Amino acid sequence: MASRLRYCADLRQRLLTAIRATASAASRCPAGGSRTAEAASPDASGCGSSWASGRPFIVDGAPRLAGLAPRSDWLRNMAAKASPLAARIAAEWREDARMEHASIAAFARFTLDLLAFGAPAELVELAQRAALDEVEHARLCFGLAARYSGVETGPAPLPAADLRLAGSLWDAATSAFEEGCIGETLAALFAESALARARDPEVVLALQQIAEQEGRHAELAWRFVGWSLARLGPDLRYELERRLALAQQTSAAARGEPDRESPGNRAVLHAAGRLSAADKRRLTDAGLRDIVARCVAQLTPPAAVAGPALTSADDSGTRST
Ligand SMILES: [Fe+2]
Ligand SMILES: [Fe+2]
Repeated sequence: MASRLRYCADLRQRLLTAIRATASAASRCPAGGSRTAEAASPDASGCGSSWASGRPFIVDGAPRLAGLAPRSDWLRNMAAKASPLAARIAAEWREDARMEHASIAAFARFTLDLLAFGAPAELVELAQRAALDEVEHARLCFGLAARYSGVETGPAPLPAADLRLAGSLWDAATSAFEEGCIGETLAALFAESALARARDPEVVLALQQIAEQEGRHAELAWRFVGWSLARLGPDLRYELERRLALAQQTSAAARGEPDRESPGNRAVLHAAGRLSAADKRRLTDAGLRDIVARCVAQLTPPAAVAGPALTSADDSGTRST
């Protein structure tokens, strides 16, 4: 038990360190700069990244979101805040809120997958806790949308009757890799980068919580993938490498696309915790390269149990077994 606890703390610390280092390095790149990628195709939220705010709820191969409804039970109450870009900022926080809300469903399904494949109790507990985290993330984001718009909204009913559980441990592991190891690692990276630039105190408080918890959700996904790898063997690792390569190809496809945000707008957005499309493309590229790829490279069954080494600075620590 003691070694497992050391492993958990070790992996968490390595992930958080890597996420913060990558967010810091990416923030030092000039906007629209060429050292890192300008990446993926626009998504439904218009953020310009194919990766969204956290674990997506995928049904029939597509992310599913609830619509919006006028209601006040899904938001944290916050005082109104004026901004020259208030409408846009509110709309973007509202889209984040819909994605956070969908993550609740994603973790509910993940919990059922864990139970179906006999996963350890600790992973089931962490998945349940993660779902509760996502409830709070949705409330925070709906609250920030109302802070900037003055309009209280929440989620409409989320259609879920047609969702399917994973048909095999292989399917569950590959989904967890894409939705958690990639999706939540990038979500933590986005939140950490936005936090470093935010000036609105309510935004700072929200992003502190979201960044820390998304990092834990990513950690959970890596642990489940490591557990699956020990059962499925190296073919799973080859499949993860293939999927990572596809993600990196997508990220690189739009490399060099200019940053169309004006410096003035960018500063206003950053103060309100919003990243530009170019910010997200740059972070996606850096996160895939500097965090996800390094984890996958060391994700053999023994290393997965020990936790991936993410940065040379972290590698001096004793790896527990
Ligand atoms: Fe979240
Ligand atoms: Fe999450």
